[in-house]
Amino acid sequence: MKDERAAFEAAISSAMTQSGSCVTRFILLDETMSTQDAARIMCGGESGLLVVALRQTHGRGRLGREWADTSHLGLAATFVLPGSFAPDALSIACGLAAARACDAFNTKPEHVIGVRWPNDVVVTSQGVRERKMSGVLIERSNDLYFAGVGINVRQQESDFPSELREKAVSLAMLGSKASRAEVGELLARELSTALATDADRLSKQWQRRDVLVNTRRAFMFDGRRVEGVVRSIDPSGSIALETSEGSISLPAIFTSMIHE
Ligand code: BTN
Repeated sequence: MKDERAAFEAAISSAMTQSGSCVTRFILLDETMSTQDAARIMCGGESGLLVVALRQTHGRGRLGREWADTSHLGLAATFVLPGSFAPDALSIACGLAAARACDAFNTKPEHVIGVRWPNDVVVTSQGVRERKMSGVLIERSNDLYFAGVGINVRQQESDFPSELREKAVSLAMLGSKASRAEVGELLARELSTALATDADRLSKQWQRRDVLVNTRRAFMFDGRRVEGVVRSIDPSGSIALETSEGSISLPAIFTSMIHE
């Protein structure tokens, strides 16, 4: 644990030397309930703080879900960012940064690291339905964004709760030996790069990794379930679906995906 602490301090210090880094201060906690809450309390109302917990006991996900990783195996990080970012661009930037950080440690071409709207990082491996490697939760308070990123790094399948075993995957399960500190450093670097990239370019990068197009999916929109083949997805615009009743377009911001 002492070694891991030193490795994290060195790795994030190195990321902070990147020109235009979004991280100017770093706090590493041994344990906390949620890095989202810790960051809110510790940031002093200023952006630039990165909070990482070596163990997170009550991580939360989007739509009131929990983020299950209490075992010192995953990366739990919250970046405190200026409230001036456009929310959809920020969401895309966080998802892409996490995907690129994961991809850098994927040495096997048979595993493809993709993004699943709105900002999950998923792995597809030769015909197997995608499994989730990383999730992003963006919260806003007092003119700041709290961008929380969870990445499965060292877990084996048995470390996940039984209901997640067919849905979750980690870098270690793909054969990577990456440490949480190495993944954290790259995530901080990739996020700084993505936040400085213009929206059009980010959108194109997103589309290259998107796993939803041409697959049949179900969504919730306006209190009802809508199912169809995804024809296109613009995370800052609309989701085009081919349903049994014809083509429709759902506004991405008011739509959520049903995970089946
Ligand atoms: C999701 O997939 O629904 C989002 C998961 C986000 C999890 C991260 S882990 C670090 C930060 N702290 C939290 O409590 N949640 C986010």
